[in-house]
Amino acid sequence: MRTEGSSPAEESPVDAMVAEVDYPLFVVTTAADDEVSGCVAGFVTQCSIEPPRFLVCISKQNHSYLVAEKAAGLALHLLGAEQLEMASLFGELSGDVADKFSQCEWRAGVTGAPVLTDCAAWIEGRILHHFSVGDHAAFIMTTDHGESGPRSGQLTVKAGAVLEAGHPATDAATEETTSRQTIGDAAHRESGSGGA
Ligand SMILES: Cc1cc2nc3c(=O)[nH]c(=O)nc-3n(C[C@H](O)[C@H](O)[C@H](O)COP(=O)(O)O)c2cc1C
Repeated sequence: MRTEGSSPAEESPVDAMVAEVDYPLFVVTTAADDEVSGCVAGFVTQCSIEPPRFLVCISKQNHSYLVAEKAAGLALHLLGAEQLEMASLFGELSGDVADKFSQCEWRAGVTGAPVLTDCAAWIEGRILHHFSVGDHAAFIMTTDHGESGPRSGQLTVKAGAVLEAGHPATDAATEETTSRQTIGDAAHRESGSGGA
């Protein structure tokens, strides 16, 4: 919300909305070519009821993006309310320089994506499409497996704001035109091949 004395020119149109909303925090994991990767993600939502599907946005700067774009599937873990330490492991470190998976308990899921033991709930599914949405890429996933974990409640993006992301969220190379083109391509693939 614009505060008294600030001018509209000082505030981006999205600031007021971003200041008000909060989202659950997830850890998204993936695997390809014998490499595992994963990062914290707040840009996550269910995007279809029938068939059930989730959309996960991964920054193109992230190690996880480089692995996910070659991967068959994703595992998505809801973090419990007290899991700031897990959020720090996956949100403040980058797979570019750190082995996150030697520091937590996991097993390989059906798609190969690491399934973390310590979470509030997880799902695993296949990647149907991924397409550019700006500085992030959106991954649409099926929801083939999943169960509750030992944690309860949910950690949120606002609670995670104390963390310093391992990668900057964006860089100068945001491509709006490419984004529109690839979204169009994805829509075409969906209608042509059926997916899921
Ligand atoms: C609160 C919070 C929310 C985040 N949300 C996202 C997100 O939605 N998508 C994303 O790609 N990165 C997000 N990040 C940043 C990545 O988790 C972080 O840069 C991570 O270190 C990248 O790891 P990687 O390079 O191993 O993939 C978030 C980080 C924090 C602390």
